[in-house]
Amino acid sequence: MARKVAAGNWKMHGTESDLAQVDALAEAIAAARCDVVLCPPTTLIARMSARAGLMDLHVGAQTCHPATSGAHTGDVSATMLADAGATHVIVGHSERRADHGETNEDVAAQATAAVEAGLIAIICVGETEAERDAGVTLNVVASQLAGSVPTGALPAQIIVAYEPVWAIGTGRTPTLEQIAEVHDHIRSELAARRGSAADSIPLLYGGSVKPANAAEIFAVSNVDGALVGGASLKAADFGPIIKALSAE
Ligand code: PGA
Repeated sequence: MARKVAAGNWKMHGTESDLAQVDALAEAIAAARCDVVLCPPTTLIARMSARAGLMDLHVGAQTCHPATSGAHTGDVSATMLADAGATHVIVGHSERRADHGETNEDVAAQATAAVEAGLIAIICVGETEAERDAGVTLNVVASQLAGSVPTGALPAQIIVAYEPVWAIGTGRTPTLEQIAEVHDHIRSELAARRGSAADSIPLLYGGSVKPANAAEIFAVSNVDGALVGGASLKAADFGPIIKALSAE
């Protein structure tokens, strides 16, 4: 069975003073029966890792360049992220796909670079509202999986996050049946390529996860945790989400 993972994505939020949230999460992390990952902006990765000290907190990044080094002004490689203390990196978030035109091919190259640098790649997929309305959600997710998940990566090196674009930062979530339908589909798509080894790949739901809806989402079939945006910024919200996953 897959590990359970509570992952937070701080996006472009956070400066030094926000590292106090790490201290405030200490109790929830100590009691957690799941992996806890926080992905702050690149500027805070090293400081967050240092602040976590001996806490069982994994620190992640939000993207990486596919190359190890080179003439790519402003970019950061997976090797550099690992050097700064990261153990995970989100790739293919819908905001990166939209803002930076990242394609499935780009995402697969980033995930491959992440794995080669010893990081766990959190690979994001998810349909837009227009795609859901058109009834093509499962096809879109399947083709994103086929294009974005490197076939050579071992199950322990990847996590897949299903994040419907229309649910991100909107307060709207799919029904539990809709989440189950997509997560079951993702599991079977991965199993078609990898057989029973696919069972150990954590599948996270993301999009407006809050303390109030976390427990019911975590009870859904093939949901192994969450990728949380807004509600990961404050320990008062993320702590209860970690507890809800630990109770599952
Ligand atoms: P949200 O973001 O929890 O703020 O909806 C989720 C994400 O983008 O990972």
